[in-house]
Amino acid sequence: MIDRNTIEQIMNAAKIEEVVSDFVALRRRGVNLIGLCPFHNEKTPSFTVSPAKNRCKCFGCGKGGNPVHFIMEHEQLSYPDALRWLAKKYHIEIKERELTDEEKEAQSMRESMFVVNQYAQQYLTETLHNSSEGRAIGLNYFHKRGLREETIKKFGLGYSPERRDSFASTAIKAGYNPDIIARTGVCYSTDDGRLVDRFWGRVTFPVHTISGKVVAFGGRILQNNPKAAKYVNSPESDIYHKSDHLYGLYFSKKAIMQHDCCILVEGYLDVISMHQAGIENVVASSGTSLTTGQIRLIHRFTNNVTLLYDGDKAGIKASLRGIDMLLEEGMNINVVLLPEGEDPDSYAQSHSTEEVEEYIKNNKVDFIKFKTNLLMSEVGDDPQNRARLIGDIVRSIAVIPNDILRSEYMRKCSEMLQVSEQLLVSETAKIRIKHAEENYKHKQQENTATENSVSSNQTELVQEATNETLPQPTIHVGRDENPLYNKERAIIQFILRNGEKLLLVPENKISNITSFTESVISHIYYSLNGDGIEFLHPLYKRIFEEAVERVSDDGFIAEQYFLSHPDAEISHLTAELCSDRYILSKLFCENNNEERNESAVLFEQATRLTIAYKQSIVDDLLKQTMAQLKDPAITADSARCMQVMQELKYLKETQQALNALLAQYGFGSAALNF
Ligand code: CTP
Ligand code: MN
Repeated sequence: MIDRNTIEQIMNAAKIEEVVSDFVALRRRGVNLIGLCPFHNEKTPSFTVSPAKNRCKCFGCGKGGNPVHFIMEHEQLSYPDALRWLAKKYHIEIKERELTDEEKEAQSMRESMFVVNQYAQQYLTETLHNSSEGRAIGLNYFHKRGLREETIKKFGLGYSPERRDSFASTAIKAGYNPDIIARTGVCYSTDDGRLVDRFWGRVTFPVHTISGKVVAFGGRILQNNPKAAKYVNSPESDIYHKSDHLYGLYFSKKAIMQHDCCILVEGYLDVISMHQAGIENVVASSGTSLTTGQIRLIHRFTNNVTLLYDGDKAGIKASLRGIDMLLEEGMNINVVLLPEGEDPDSYAQSHSTEEVEEYIKNNKVDFIKFKTNLLMSEVGDDPQNRARLIGDIVRSIAVIPNDILRSEYMRKCSEMLQVSEQLLVSETAKIRIKHAEENYKHKQQENTATENSVSSNQTELVQEATNETLPQPTIHVGRDENPLYNKERAIIQFILRNGEKLLLVPENKISNITSFTESVISHIYYSLNGDGIEFLHPLYKRIFEEAVERVSDDGFIAEQYFLSHPDAEISHLTAELCSDRYILSKLFCENNNEERNESAVLFEQATRLTIAYKQSIVDDLLKQTMAQLKDPAITADSARCMQVMQELKYLKETQQALNALLAQYGFGSAALNF
């Protein structure tokens, strides 16, 4: 790991205008510089670079950030690799943090496995091009499949000889460790301890990570043999988790970004032939249905996915379910069916770039429409079948996170299915509620499992008095949208911007406190901790805990500290939450009608934020408790009923107490709405 000092050195050295102008022609406009956005196609420049803020932002597509974020996005590098990139540019020597022995061992094992894969890759391509067996069998096969020399080279295709241990013996002779060779899966060991090549007698397709390292191989058999599998793939290993990779992504990521669209096909050769035909924004799920990990990968580059399918409908029906997952991730999905008997490979081989592009353009149908048509053509007039079909479509629509898109689809489908829009709306709502409940239950189970339980954090606030187990707050909406997260985010934002500053706690005659100062972070910590509250959102929780731990460090400045945090998620969030200074200054203005110094204003703001957060927690508990009074199982039992009433009473009192607390500091609850 890169040590913190080095990160700070890099952050201080990297000038946004210098970094961006390595890739974009910039010209001055006022205090800023502007240029054409490198992340999307545009004709008039909307990519703005602010040397003063050391940030860039595209007002067209929204991408940008500090120099590290720019490099991560532009070069598609991980956070540490982007830092290394910048270190090189600015001639800064990287000091890596000492790894623990365990970390070292794990890392060196993974690194060794990549080294073996790299060596295997070289061996297999060499064999394909330079051995007589490889040329006669492997290369000849690829030529027959219509691949040109440069395509074969670009994708690193290879050949593994018929002899069962060609690679194994060569690698061992060259000094590679048999255990590590076996771990990568390029070879496997037999019961009697021999090492056997997994891909013997097959042509090979290396699978690359997003940054171009070989992580696995696929091997295709050369003759049709019904007894042997057509493809054999590397097994899962310490470095290869099949569900986190997409074949071809390394070669297509730039094109995907440029076209703002990813074409998804099924097989290795589909990807390769499409590239050869000049269409490069193509990846393959490699025959299996899509996983969430793969969808997230695509989502890093684009929001638009086009599924390109064979003309026969069997394959499509099998993958319909997987596609709902794409919808759920908020992606726009189109489907293109190729003519009967064609797959992307054959179609790309027999048509020009323009023809393929034309075909895709003219035959693109949005997924919901496609699915509706497909299923409608099957059900005919039978009412039961029709009902099932509607249910099926509604399930797809229900997972779409964007409200506008969802209602647009409902409108379209009501026309296509000839049912009232109202019916679709209410059916969709039912499913969404069900999903939300399931997610909530699921989360609760997870929470109990990790002893990170919602109840222990939040009910303590009110538990002391009742000494009863209180219900847990309800989560009303879909996953990751716990309304408390917003409040937590506001607090984290405040801490990132002001955490190290001192606030002035005013004198309080009622509780007999004389005025004193403390850091924003400590103040918030004591305020929440005093009520037994811990953040629910795992990332916010981590930031908060680290802030509390660090606040007394010499020279600690929250924004700087978290902006150069080794965890990319944390540094990203910090950049996002600290980028808009305007909001903050507006808040200050509102409060500044009487002359008060910053530390008094900070206190007010911290108090508002924490009280707003506590109020939300109590509101949640209140709603949950009220709901119990509608539950027949509870209303039938008068003892339970009394107990719930008691809880309710206590919660109402807590709510009033919180309101009073706000009033005591001279601001009413109206001030809470931000
Ligand atoms: N696949 C696999 N293992 C198999 C069969 C298929 O991993 N036993 C994956 C491969 O990535 C393959 C994709 O699923 O490319 C699609 O399979 P299929 O349609 O059977 O093969 P094609 O890609 O059409 O292969 P080819 O054109 O070489 O026959
Ligand atoms: Mn094929």
